[in-house]
Amino acid sequence: MNRTVEVDLAKRSYRVEVQPGLLESVGRFVQSLPEVSSVAVVADSRVAELYGLSLQDALAQVDAPASMIPFPAGEENKTLSTCQGLFDKLFALRPPVDRSSLIVTLGGGVTGDIGGFLAATALRGIRFLQCPTTLLAAVDASTGGKTGVDHEAGKNLIGAFHQPVGVLIDPRCLRTLCPEELRSGLAECVKHAVIRSQDLLRFLEDRKADLLACNEEAMTELIAANVAIKAGVVAADETEQSLRAILNYGHTFGHAIEAEVGFGNMTHGQAVALGMVGANRVATDRGMLSSSTADRVESVLAGLGLATRTEAPDPDVIWDRMLHDKKTRKGRVKLVLPRGIGDVAICDDLTRSEVRAALEYLSGE
Ligand code: GLY
Repeated sequence: MNRTVEVDLAKRSYRVEVQPGLLESVGRFVQSLPEVSSVAVVADSRVAELYGLSLQDALAQVDAPASMIPFPAGEENKTLSTCQGLFDKLFALRPPVDRSSLIVTLGGGVTGDIGGFLAATALRGIRFLQCPTTLLAAVDASTGGKTGVDHEAGKNLIGAFHQPVGVLIDPRCLRTLCPEELRSGLAECVKHAVIRSQDLLRFLEDRKADLLACNEEAMTELIAANVAIKAGVVAADETEQSLRAILNYGHTFGHAIEAEVGFGNMTHGQAVALGMVGANRVATDRGMLSSSTADRVESVLAGLGLATRTEAPDPDVIWDRMLHDKKTRKGRVKLVLPRGIGDVAICDDLTRSEVRAALEYLSGE
């Protein structure tokens, strides 16, 4: 089975293909691109070990030299210094990289973000192809052209919008994910369902056993449905001037909680799941969202193995983190609040007392 989603961005449009076994066809895709002089595959050390050889086999049919440029695995390596090491390897390749070269990112969100940033900035911009190997990257990060690295001052503070020439997703790669990573991706699927689609929420309820078992057919459907939602939002607002901000549902609380517990101690998706519960609490307190809908979202999250309660983080610290979020403007903290499934509003008037109430709820008080 295969699914294709178009990302409609005029001259920068591209297709996202989802198909079990697709990694074997990366060569066919590269061969179909106009003039590729060389290919550099960016992958972390772990993914390079798991899938590097298969990808190199697939690229053997391409009429251009292909090289692997690995970097050390781990979220903490999403930095400019990792980029520096990758630039050194990229510019040492022979034949030298040129404007017709192609970067292929093979891996999770960190790899896509770093490899995409490399492509956005090397020689002032070369093409890149995303091959995500985690559910989180497949349903979210690989589509939409956000690339970049973290800075000590915060996540994703250095980067560029640079769209890939295509996204090839092989759901078979998800079989090597640990359960936490799988659940992390599922949390972003719940996010897409709440902001955009009743059908997707029902799918997550009805097929949860298949999804947790990584059933290929269910995963293919799930990924395509999520990419279609993301593609629609990105096509309407590529550089996040307005609508694209709805993709941050769950992220205002989520990022603050993730930073507070320490990156690496909680998966991104788990933090976003808690963030959605926190945002829903603000929405129910404001009378925007019914308690029954908020309870339904919590049940879906819990059914997918995601925690919906956490040890009470200090509300003042969380508030402070929110105030310093890059999306906060003039001290007004932005929050995406649901009015129902598939219907959200972007508010910029979150208050300290609402944060306190939501955190009390999250800690089960
Ligand atoms: N992950 C949010 C976005 O791509 O805008």
